[in-house]
Amino acid sequence: MSFSKDPNRVLIFDTTLRDGEQALPQSLSTKQKLQIAMALDQLGVDVIETGFPISSEGDFKSVQTISRELKHAIPCGLARCVPKDIDACGEALKVAEQFRIHTFIATSDIHVHDKLRKTQDDILEMAVRSVKQARNYTDDVEFSCEDAGRTPIDYLCRMVENAIKAGATTINIPDTVGYTVPEEFGGIIQTLFNRVPNIDQAVISVHCHNDLGMATANSITAIQHGARQIECCVNGLGERAGNCSLEEVAMAIKLRQQHLNGLHTGIVAQNIARTSALVAKICNEPVPPHKAIVGSNAFAHSSGIHQDGVLKNRETYEILTPQSVGFTDNTMRMTARSGRHMIKACLTQLGYPEDSYDLNEIYSRFLKLADRKGQVFDYDLEALLFFQKRDEDVENYFELETLNVMSGGINHGAIPTASVRLRAGKRTRTESCTGNGPVDAVYNCISRLTGIRCKLTSYTINANGSGMDALGEVNVNVDYNGRTFHGMGMSTDVIEASALALINACNIIERARLIDKERKQEHSMQSK
Ligand code: KIV
Ligand code: ZN
Repeated sequence: MSFSKDPNRVLIFDTTLRDGEQALPQSLSTKQKLQIAMALDQLGVDVIETGFPISSEGDFKSVQTISRELKHAIPCGLARCVPKDIDACGEALKVAEQFRIHTFIATSDIHVHDKLRKTQDDILEMAVRSVKQARNYTDDVEFSCEDAGRTPIDYLCRMVENAIKAGATTINIPDTVGYTVPEEFGGIIQTLFNRVPNIDQAVISVHCHNDLGMATANSITAIQHGARQIECCVNGLGERAGNCSLEEVAMAIKLRQQHLNGLHTGIVAQNIARTSALVAKICNEPVPPHKAIVGSNAFAHSSGIHQDGVLKNRETYEILTPQSVGFTDNTMRMTARSGRHMIKACLTQLGYPEDSYDLNEIYSRFLKLADRKGQVFDYDLEALLFFQKRDEDVENYFELETLNVMSGGINHGAIPTASVRLRAGKRTRTESCTGNGPVDAVYNCISRLTGIRCKLTSYTINANGSGMDALGEVNVNVDYNGRTFHGMGMSTDVIEASALALINACNIIERARLIDKERKQEHSMQSK
């Protein structure tokens, strides 16, 4: 690994697909994770934590698939200090030429005694054994002291020294519960540099959670004290209040390089906006408007005094431009009405030369997708290039055929009534229902027609686009047998968009039911 040749280079370790994903209400499919991983690769991150292979078959497969596809970033997998975790990690990652195993164990008193019910010596032994086991798979091993922020400093120094001696090449110091303040966290990193004799044999990394809103400040302070890797998530996703936000640290380091004595990262700033939008969309986690760097208000000037200042000189209230992180004025909205020219222009803007794809083929696949989705985004278009498997050709089990709604105001004597005609496999049936509003009436019909009894846990509606052409975008989350499924629908008619969103979720549930059935059959064949 030639990572640390430049002493001023700060490595960006992205954990959107692991720490970020584990906090989402619904897990992502392999295809969704791969789409995010490819964007992170283009964003210039150094290491991608692709998942936690032992946690499920799905995670194992995602880690393997992503590891095979990455062009620049090093794939990494997470493992507890447990032999079977490390084996699963090694097996999933070995498809890549170079990969990292990240093994962790908690070191704070409260975790060691109350959670793990072990002694400090037990933990140290498990850590050393695990690092050595991981080294049998790769020479790139990261070890994390979970809850390092609350770990007694003498024990932390001992752990770090022994983990390095056992072969760890990166030592990660997480502020797992986001408890420390910058001076304190910087002090922990400084103490490690002062007291651990073999510290120069590893890269020191930090992994800060945002419970007190300090994640970015703590990470920046840590690099001022010698840390050279920051672990972070796009849009600050992650457990509870989230992880350190990738775009915030990357832009802070870029913009304040002089103050930070020349520290720098490999992040391609112009790709930040696009990656942020992609992650928000795929994870169904909208970016808050006031979010630093990527929020819709991050570059908006509202008060008269500010507007006056900006008109005279932008730098009065603007420390960075929206263009510098990749926001462009020309957002391309692609629908089934878009022509080949638009598709070509969008692919060119995304950096794909004309001879790298077959326009006719992409265009016919695009039209099918646009028919199904209403609006196609640039990353959908990119996915058509990436993926051999043609999702737009996979037929949906449920398809809306007709929809009629009568509603005149529930408080004025009208009873909202809906009739829905739906195809389910080869059968088409119609149902009529009433409800406490038009959407409720439609949802009652869909529930009867699909036979899927799920609970709506969230419903949001947004205008996508502007003016008369704006599409209503409805996102729903439903709970089905304890699992969360997400559905999205778009239409100029918001009731139709609502119907499409629930039907989309039902199709995903139907696919999940099929996969579960196939797995059960496989297991019963194996046990015969
Ligand atoms: O927050 C944390 O401590 C973690 C570890 C697994 C690195 O996510
Ligand atoms: Zn974490």
